[in-house]
Amino acid sequence: MSNKATLDAILSLSKRKGFVFQSSEIYGGLNGCWDYGPLGVELMRNIKDAWWKSMTYRRDIVGLDASILMHPRTWEASGHIQQFSDPMIDNKTSKARYRADNLIEEHIERLIKKNKTGDAATITARLAAAESNEDLHSIIIDAEIKDPVSGTTDWTEVRNFNLMFKTFVGPTDDSSNAVFLRPETAQGIFVNFKNVMESARMKPPFGIAQIGKSFRNEINTKNFLFRVREFEQMEMQFFVKPGEEQEWYEYWRQERWNWFLQMGIKAESLQRKPHQKMAHYATAAEDIEYAFPFGWGEIEGIHSRTDFDLNKHQEFSGKKLEYVDTATKDRFTPYVIETAAGATRTFMALLCDAYSEEEVANADGGSETRTVLRFKPELAPTTVAVFPLVNKDGMPEFAEKLFDDLRKEFRTEYDTSGAIGRRYRRQDEVGTPFCVTIDGESLSDSTVTIRYRDSMEQERVNIDALVSLIHRRLKP
Ligand code: GAP
Repeated sequence: MSNKATLDAILSLSKRKGFVFQSSEIYGGLNGCWDYGPLGVELMRNIKDAWWKSMTYRRDIVGLDASILMHPRTWEASGHIQQFSDPMIDNKTSKARYRADNLIEEHIERLIKKNKTGDAATITARLAAAESNEDLHSIIIDAEIKDPVSGTTDWTEVRNFNLMFKTFVGPTDDSSNAVFLRPETAQGIFVNFKNVMESARMKPPFGIAQIGKSFRNEINTKNFLFRVREFEQMEMQFFVKPGEEQEWYEYWRQERWNWFLQMGIKAESLQRKPHQKMAHYATAAEDIEYAFPFGWGEIEGIHSRTDFDLNKHQEFSGKKLEYVDTATKDRFTPYVIETAAGATRTFMALLCDAYSEEEVANADGGSETRTVLRFKPELAPTTVAVFPLVNKDGMPEFAEKLFDDLRKEFRTEYDTSGAIGRRYRRQDEVGTPFCVTIDGESLSDSTVTIRYRDSMEQERVNIDALVSLIHRRLKP
């Protein structure tokens, strides 16, 4: 068995089987945007449901669904207007625009390929030490980096390009009406801190969880779903008494690590990456990374953010965002531990991790390659597939009745076409954990064959025992 999850294999399977399509593909697609097909949407829902349950089916966390468009002052308070930007440089001849640091990194890679390791090391050191756009510009000019399109070194200055999408409320495109599509769900939680705490009668330590779309006008969208412009986040802000933040940070870094393991991701595909450089307000930060086919990439960040965000919103809104203990009159602005996971990246990580190809015996006595998505059964987009062995002798009617019964409990598919072996392969490829076949015997003794995706073993069971057997197997 091998995990051959190349990006090409995942992309091709995603399209062929209806997990993910390019957005507005018939018009040539829209960069950085993807559509989830019938199986993709089920997998995504299962991921989000698993996260939602793990967060809100506990006594100290409640949920929220804030709007995507928020008051523009939100983004001044959060620092996104001033700081949420990438350093960009334009080539005057080709008019092509690049992220300055990426342009330098690609130049370094080319130098390494040409064995100019000394030059590569010098530029790498300068890039690591660069503190301003001017520093990046000097590196590009000094190294005589050429535009890949025009081949010239005809560069503009390096300028910051804000990653937030801007739009306008109301009928006029006037800057006084400008609003932004949120670049993270977290700010919807901060601004609702008091509403939620008071209405749900919570007191620190407690958390607010939210799942929703976020938008970033990424300059370089790449690696399928990894860096996209429209994506989903699953964020939770945990509000604690100042002084208790370290203990809660440790708790959440462990909880979030365990969650990915519970989702069935292999331990060797995950690593922790503590932040070396931290924002001035953060006291601790760590990413959980997944071994994607293109290398390690962040799927979640866990941050200890002090009272920075609530303080900023108090300052900009003029409203108190404190907890006041009515009995002791103790009052404080809570510190925050943030767990910020990408639903989109988790989806991609699960697809990559579940993918495997293996050689199995075929009906002709030879062997063939079986592609199988080994999702945890409860995450699989389809839970059960029902097949009549042949399309005659009362089997289709019996199978359709069973299909209708199972559909009330599970996401179920019905397939009548091709040999049974081919039907198994089709379901393996989309990760369906259970296939049920109806044959001649089923009509006389009400038994069916259930076949398990991972072991490929088959078992004869009574039809009345089927639902409870599948439920038992779905238990985490
Ligand atoms: N509130 C903190 C925050 O948003 P972040 O590290 O910028 O932190 C959190 O984002 C998670 O959101 C990332 O770990 C990643 O999974 C996901 N994410 C961020 N940008 C993304 C993008 N352009 N495409 C897909 N997922 C993205």
